[in-house]
Amino acid sequence: MTNTAHNQARKRVAVLISGRGSNMMSLVEASRAHDYPADIVSVISNRPDAPGLDWAGSQGMNTVALDHKAYTTRAAFDDALHAAIEDSDAEIVACAGFMRLMTPELVAKWHNRMLNIHPALLPSFKGLDTHARALAAGVRIAGCTVHIVRPEMDTGPILGQAAVPVIDGDTPDTLAQRILAAEHRLYPRILSLFAADAYDIHQDLAHLRAASLKTTMLFSPET
Ligand code: GRF
Repeated sequence: MTNTAHNQARKRVAVLISGRGSNMMSLVEASRAHDYPADIVSVISNRPDAPGLDWAGSQGMNTVALDHKAYTTRAAFDDALHAAIEDSDAEIVACAGFMRLMTPELVAKWHNRMLNIHPALLPSFKGLDTHARALAAGVRIAGCTVHIVRPEMDTGPILGQAAVPVIDGDTPDTLAQRILAAEHRLYPRILSLFAADAYDIHQDLAHLRAASLKTTMLFSPET
């Protein structure tokens, strides 16, 4: 297969970030595998000083900084964001620590084509401060979720989840680190399935065709 044919078979993905960008890095690194079904064609940030943007630039990627403060309305920013995504000919948008609420109009333009990762087992702990709230609730299993974006924050068909134990003595930071390591494994895997058209999506549910579970129970504590 020539390089061109190989690239044509891959889905073009724009990644949206606001900060550190470690999830974006995990997607970029996964996409370097010759058989990965998606190419990261642009990294777009609403914060020009996002460290993740520098990293993406250093990797020779196409980066776009769109300072949301330069736009007087959310709709104007979203129009510019949509145009930037379209400029890269992306077919899929992957939000990875993108800390901006989107207008329903923008979400509608990317209906069933925009993914997000959230550091909790949705539908529990939507929104911010998820780790502190999970600890305050005394959950024994925490985790992260990759889902399709719907207009209401942190809702939408769930594509995949990863679970981690909560350990006695955890602080929001230690729990966040454990969940982040799971995020870095989960997101590339789910994007790979999504880009390979492995899901059927019916309204608010996603169904993975030919899914087979190797385990039937997760325990924490294990004993
Ligand atoms: C991650 O925990 C992600 O789930 C949440 O924000 C954090 C972003 O981290 N939405 P990074 O920028 O990907 O390192």
